[in-house]
Amino acid sequence: MTNNAGLIWLIGSKGMLGTELSLLLEKSGIPFAGTDREVDITVMSALTAACEKLAGKQPVKWIINCAAYTAVDKAEDDAETCRSLNEHGAANIASVANNIEARLIHISTDYVFDGTASRPYREDDATAPTGVYGLTKRDGEIAVLKNNTRSYIIRTAWLYGKHGNNFVHTMLRLMNERSEIKVVNDQRGSPTWAFDLAFVILTLIKKVDYGKNIPFGIYHFTNDGNITWFDFAKEIFRQGRKLGGIAKDCAVNPCTSAEYPAKVKRPAYSVLDKRKIKSALGIKIPAWKKSLKEFLKKK
Ligand SMILES: NC(=O)c1ccc[n+]([C@@H]2O[C@H](COP(=O)([O-])OP(=O)(O)OC[C@H]3O[C@@H](n4cnc5c(N)ncnc54)[C@H](OP(=O)(O)O)[C@@H]3O)[C@@H](O)[C@H]2O)c1
Repeated sequence: MTNNAGLIWLIGSKGMLGTELSLLLEKSGIPFAGTDREVDITVMSALTAACEKLAGKQPVKWIINCAAYTAVDKAEDDAETCRSLNEHGAANIASVANNIEARLIHISTDYVFDGTASRPYREDDATAPTGVYGLTKRDGEIAVLKNNTRSYIIRTAWLYGKHGNNFVHTMLRLMNERSEIKVVNDQRGSPTWAFDLAFVILTLIKKVDYGKNIPFGIYHFTNDGNITWFDFAKEIFRQGRKLGGIAKDCAVNPCTSAEYPAKVKRPAYSVLDKRKIKSALGIKIPAWKKSLKEFLKKK
């Protein structure tokens, strides 16, 4: 339990990360209220009304925003909707948080960078998004920091979890269906189990509630280590076969991004430097391989 007598408002509670956070908060016995599409973040009056209703019962001390437009390629033809969620929705939430003096935790992405770096990206590195999704997420970050000075922004990458479409689910399905698959071997990043991110978010809340001074601003969090999608797929196969999630053999072969043209060019290198969050929270970050194993064991 946190010693803070307030409520946590979890926005986007039915998405991949939101589901993981809901389960963790429930299990930890921490009072929270989850909302998703029924409280449209693009409509300020809807957010204000929901906030008044919640605050009428218990003061809202924290807002966590997991709602976003996350369809990276679709966003190129749907820029207005994408911006309405990722920039304006985020700005609305930050204003509501500011009005009630709540702290905000807002989730962002490695896609704010162009992926041309040769060392892990730090929080204060210049952003250079290459597509609509990354651009609107970057503008959302700016709006959040402007509208509520009590904001934490956590950038993450390559997220997977039990709820929703993600790379691990896709690989398990394809490996069970096909005898051979090809996976890109020229994009490097860090897989991140949504449970580990949810755990870190909760750690942040608890530490702040117990009086630790953790400066507001941007933080990076992914699992530890970095690999290509091909490396990730090989390990999913190895562990999936061992743990029983994959029933037969499947050859996993490398290919280049050019063989899988997409509307938005994926960052070739999206490794995030996590020293800031490690030192602020005094945490060790689980290695990607260990977290994948935990995830597959729970499936
Ligand atoms: N997934 C990744 O690999 C990844 C990587 C880096 C960063 N991130 C960031 O991490 C955060 C969480 O991502 P996620 O993958 O958990 O996202 P997600 O699964 O797409 O969840 C987003 C949730 O927001 C809901 N939503 C959509 N429009 C809404 C609206 N107008 N008002 C209120 N809620 C609305 C969605 O409902 P519907 O499902 O009905 O649309 C969904 O439940 C996002 O900020 C994302 O940018 C994700």
